[in-house]
Amino acid sequence: MNNTEIKIRRLELSDQLQLTKLADNSDISNNLRDSFPNPYKEKDAQSFIYMTLQQNPVTSFGVEYNENLCGVISLILQTDIYRKSAEIGYWIGEPYWGKGIATQAVSQIVKYGFETLNLIRIYAGIIEYNTASMRVLEKSGFKKEGISLKAISKKDKIWDEHRYYILNKTM
Ligand SMILES: CC(C)(COP(=O)(O)OP(=O)(O)OC[C@H]1O[C@@H](n2cnc3c(N)ncnc32)[C@H](O)[C@@H]1OP(=O)(O)O)[C@@H](O)C(=O)NCCC(=O)NCCS
Repeated sequence: MNNTEIKIRRLELSDQLQLTKLADNSDISNNLRDSFPNPYKEKDAQSFIYMTLQQNPVTSFGVEYNENLCGVISLILQTDIYRKSAEIGYWIGEPYWGKGIATQAVSQIVKYGFETLNLIRIYAGIIEYNTASMRVLEKSGFKKEGISLKAISKKDKIWDEHRYYILNKTM
């Protein structure tokens, strides 16, 4: 895969329709927090894009594959004594799965988080059945640090959370 085909960039208002089309998918929302809308409407895309336009520093990016918007990736900056840490979250639209896109996007935002935002730690919490996302993190250099037993309630069932982290080796 030529890495130049995949990049992260700021979202724009003109991304609204494509974002809605890709995000409106229960195979995506089933792996994310309940705050991720399902069904996903144009107004959801619009308010998400407006939110990202106000970010300073920007922490949510569109993921592009061959100049097409194909997903979203974010760092959720933590506060107080956790201020040098961020949680990572991402999704890729189903037509684009299995092309190595998430792995590239994760590597790019981790580099941004460490080099530009001076973070020390980036972590993720994955629902136990999401083995594809665990694989993405492992391919991107994350390590599993443990399993939080029964930490998640999703769709009326209780699930374990697999916790992953990566450290900024320069700090
Ligand atoms: C998880 C997700 C981000 C992966 O995106 P992607 O661009 O397809 O990921 P990549 O192509 O970079 O890598 C996927 C890896 O998972 C593997 N994989 C796919 N389905 C799998 C499964 N059911 N079990 C195990 N591994 C699986 C692929 O084979 C690939 O690994 P490989 O390169 O060793 O073959 C995407 O499926 C998605 O958005 N899912 C819904 C939302 C989500 O889960 N977000 C993450 C929440 S923590």
